[in-house]
Parts: sequence; structure tokens; C-alpha cells
Amino acid sequence: MDSLNRHEDYGQASLDVTHLLQDPIEQFKIWLQEADEEKIYEPNAFVLSTVTDLNAPSSRTVLLKGVDEHGFFFATNFESRKGQAIAQNPAVSAVFGWYSMYRQVLVEGVVENVPESDSDEYFNSRPHESKVAAWSSNQSQPIQNREALDLQFQVALDRFEGKDVRRPDYWGGYRIVPTRIEFWKGRSNRMHDRIAFTRNLDGAGEPSEWKVQRLQP
Ligand SMILES: Cc1cc2nc3c(=O)[nH]c(=O)nc-3n(C[C@H](O)[C@H](O)[C@H](O)COP(=O)(O)O)c2cc1C
Repeated sequence: MDSLNRHEDYGQASLDVTHLLQDPIEQFKIWLQEADEEKIYEPNAFVLSTVTDLNAPSSRTVLLKGVDEHGFFFATNFESRKGQAIAQNPAVSAVFGWYSMYRQVLVEGVVENVPESDSDEYFNSRPHESKVAAWSSNQSQPIQNREALDLQFQVALDRFEGKDVRRPDYWGGYRIVPTRIEFWKGRSNRMHDRIAFTRNLDGAGEPSEWKVQRLQP
């Protein structure tokens, strides 16, 4: 398979601490904006990894729906497989891979629930059918076949026809409060640039200052 044996040159453009803002969340916003301008498909998609209390890891793609000084916001079903893992262990990691730009951002941190009003606001912004889908799918649970799933959706569509759909209690937003954000830029000869920002959260969740380091590729 040719795709397993390519040796692409990731270019010369450098990434240095001096090219990045001192606040990595603000810097992340710039890279996300640039990925959007590059017309990368779903630039806000990231791979979220969780770990259960039995140390079992799992990963899946989700969409970033907001980012601010508090962290990275995404929405899902709290009773899903990821939701159960987060309830057991809030430590997660996230990978944003903007490969055609030779860029990657790695985020590590702890997940917290966003205020219910934020979940409501986001839920209410979704199309009617997406809201109904939140009611009709027990995310991550097995179902007999596609027909059964379609029927479940149709029943929910009928139930909410012509009505407002309120957010189910088991669906809403999480925020990753970051303790580590690494910016990676591919360079020639596998001598890539890596700049990592790290900080600690105290017992009350208050963050320390960001510390920045260049890492070997
Ligand atoms: C591009 C893309 C975006 C996705 N976005 C979301 C999302 O924002 N929220 C979500 O719950 N699942 C999303 N999914 C589906 C998840 O990858 C996953 O199948 C689902 O959340 C169930 O995961 P779990 O069983 O590990 O909890 C997305 C999948 C893809 C491929």
C-alpha cells in the first residue's frame, strides 16, 4: 500500500516560542481559524481519549463547539461510553490533527460539566432533527438493527412534531480545562517543532501560570 510508505517533506517553515502568543488558548483559536481558512473539513473535529477507573482507554471523534479562557467545550450524551468514563475519571486528552497544514495540537486536562444554561443554549441552537435525535438515541447502547433505530427516531419525530424540544437531562456540554497544550509543526527530516505549555490546577481548580518549553521531536 503506497499510503503506508510515503515520505513527505513537511517543509521548512519554523515554529518558535516567539511565533506563539503567551496564552496557548488564544494561540489555539488562531490555529483553528487558520485551519478553517484552509478549508479543512471539520477543522473543529478532535479525537477525545478517556480512561475508565479500571485504566481502560478509549477514543472517539467529537466536535469542538466553543473555546474560551475556561477551556474546550463539546457536547454529547452523558450516559454514553465516554460519559461513563468521564464520570469515573475526568482526565482526558484531545488531538486536533490538521495534517494538510503539517500541524497538530494536543490538549490534556480534566473535564467538568458546563453550567446547565450553557448546555441549554447550545442545545437550543441545534436543528430540530438533531434535538429529536438526542431524545431518540441511547448513545453507545446496542440496538437490534437499523430498522429498529429508524423506528425509534420516527417515534421521537412524531412525539415532537410541531413542538419545542427541550434538552434531555442526560445530554449536554462538557468542558476540558487544559493543563497541557502542545503545538506541533512538521518540519523536514522529521526534525519537527514542538512547543508545549503546561500548568497545574490547585485543589480548588485554580490554574497556575503557563510554563512553556520546546520539546525534541
Ligand atoms: C466528525 C465526527 C464528529 C463527531 N462529533 C460528535 C460530537 O460532537 N458529539 C458526540 O457525542 N459524538 C460525535 N461523534 C460520534 C463519536 O465519534 C462517537 O461515535 C459517539 O460519541 C459515541 O462515542 P462513545 O460510545 O465512545 O461515547 C462524531 C463523529 C465524527 C466522525
